Amino acid sequence: MMTTPGYDYDDPSLRPSPVTLDDLEKLKATVLFSSADEAALKTAGDVLAPQIDQILDVWYGFVGANPHLVAYFSTPSGTPLPDYLARVRARFAHWILDTCNRPYDEQWLAYHQEIAIRHTAEKKNETDHVDSVPYIPLRYMIGFIYPITATIRPFLTAAGHREEEVEAMFNAWFKSVTMQVTLWSYPYAKSVW
Ligand code: HEM
Repeated sequence: MMTTPGYDYDDPSLRPSPVTLDDLEKLKATVLFSSADEAALKTAGDVLAPQIDQILDVWYGFVGANPHLVAYFSTPSGTPLPDYLARVRARFAHWILDTCNRPYDEQWLAYHQEIAIRHTAEKKNETDHVDSVPYIPLRYMIGFIYPITATIRPFLTAAGHREEEVEAMFNAWFKSVTMQVTLWSYPYAKSVW
């Protein structure tokens, strides 16, 4: 799995998450995430796997069309860093499949804290050794839930599933992304999380 630079999901030296499995269970209950959603995500993983590049083209197209978002993949003076964009894109591809296929266990929690801090001043830019701006504001992390969710829907229809099945996959995806961004809010909101 270490063929993608900076993709450290299975790194045994990953720090354990401060979020416990009990916290996770309560968070799952809060977003109404059930075993049916787990099953729907598995199906979604099969549907999305052959379309990863097209999905990333849509998301990167959206970021690219918004200078205030490209800024986070740029130097502090505003020059975009194409190698940084490309390296993060490769890890984003793993993330789509991880969201669908990985068990939401302690290892998953640990990698989610890692992804969280990679968006904050604690660790942004370090993995790819880049000179970019220091952190992503929390407002954009939360705001991104909508485009990352809405744009996935057309891709979920590609394998000819029935409308109710597509709807189940879509809702499971929406719940998972909401839950993940909630986990990523931890370093931003530690004392009140
Ligand atoms: C890193 C997903 C919000 C910019 C990443 C990674 C993923 C991801 C999967 C790679 C993690 C890894 O290193 O393995 C998401 C999702 C978001 C979100 C699902 C919200 C729903 C944002 C926003 C921006 C952003 C709003 C700003 C435009 C970045 C940057 C990195 C990154 C610059 C690289 C950080 C580093 O230097 O290591 N994101 N992200 N992300 N994301 Fe996000």
